[in-house]
Amino acid sequence: MTEEVWTIQRILLWTRDYLTKAGSPSARLDAELLLAEVMKLRRLDLLLRFDQPLQKDELARFKRLIQRRAKHEPVAYILGRKEFYGLDLLVNPNVLVPRPETESLVDEALAFLGKPEAPAGDVLDLCTGSGAIALAVADAVKKKAMERQVVATDLSPEAHAVAQGNGERLGLPVQWLLGNLFAPIADRKFAVVVSNPPYVLSARIPELDADVRDFEPHLALDGGPDGFDVLGLLAAQAADHLVPGGLLAVELGSRAQGAVMTQALEKAGMPGGRVLPVMGGPTCLVLARRP
Ligand SMILES: C[S@@+](CC[C@H](N)C(=O)[O-])C[C@H]1O[C@@H](n2cnc3c(N)ncnc32)[C@H](O)[C@@H]1O
Repeated sequence: MTEEVWTIQRILLWTRDYLTKAGSPSARLDAELLLAEVMKLRRLDLLLRFDQPLQKDELARFKRLIQRRAKHEPVAYILGRKEFYGLDLLVNPNVLVPRPETESLVDEALAFLGKPEAPAGDVLDLCTGSGAIALAVADAVKKKAMERQVVATDLSPEAHAVAQGNGERLGLPVQWLLGNLFAPIADRKFAVVVSNPPYVLSARIPELDADVRDFEPHLALDGGPDGFDVLGLLAAQAADHLVPGGLLAVELGSRAQGAVMTQALEKAGMPGGRVLPVMGGPTCLVLARRP
């Protein structure tokens, strides 16, 4: 960048091109989010103030942020937050950046809870990470004054701390538990068990985009040799932790994984599972009810 006057419009165009060349698939959006942060403005205000020049210190701070983005660091980690289901969540490299696809999992859980045939009982979010799913459900439960508690578990103490912090900041009551899948909840049963577990095949991890592979926690991604280290346990144990008529809703990586998951669920006493592609795929949801 030269010493010329850098207006908001000019710097956004320059940064879009710079980040596109650096390989970002969302260069313009990245530029707007990072500039809004530096200038303490909303994105919309940037567009309304196209001719405003940046001060020297703003330019210097912005440059540092775009250099981080150019090295593939996710914008959410640079900003330290990510919006999910209308909630502003704090995130750091100990937790997966919540994805828009995962909002579909919340949609399914909430749609089920709104049905007359939904059984009484609480909601469990396994592998909660930042707490995204649990908090989105807890927010809806609170707004609709439903008589349901939300419980969430994660194996990572660091993720557990992030989720707990998000819950306190947002004033949403979730019971946060630390441990391996269902272990921390013993034999408690739920009306809904929802999960976005690690499901990437270990051999595929090196092929992931650098943003994901080099920055997000591998504990959140790596599903083992066949992607089923956690999915397999989930399938085997879900029925024991659902009340009759309860729903299991799980995110996974492909239709093929979905087909294997529905078979595993059938063997474990939960036949009739459905595989739904999300946002055009490859991500899918598996939905299955306990008879
Ligand atoms: C794909 S991330 C999902 C995070 C969050 N639910 C979301 O959708 O953004 C998976 C999470 O599972 C956790 N995890 C991995 N193995 C686990 C296990 N065996 N038991 C519980 N949590 C586990 C990781 O620490 C990580 O936070």
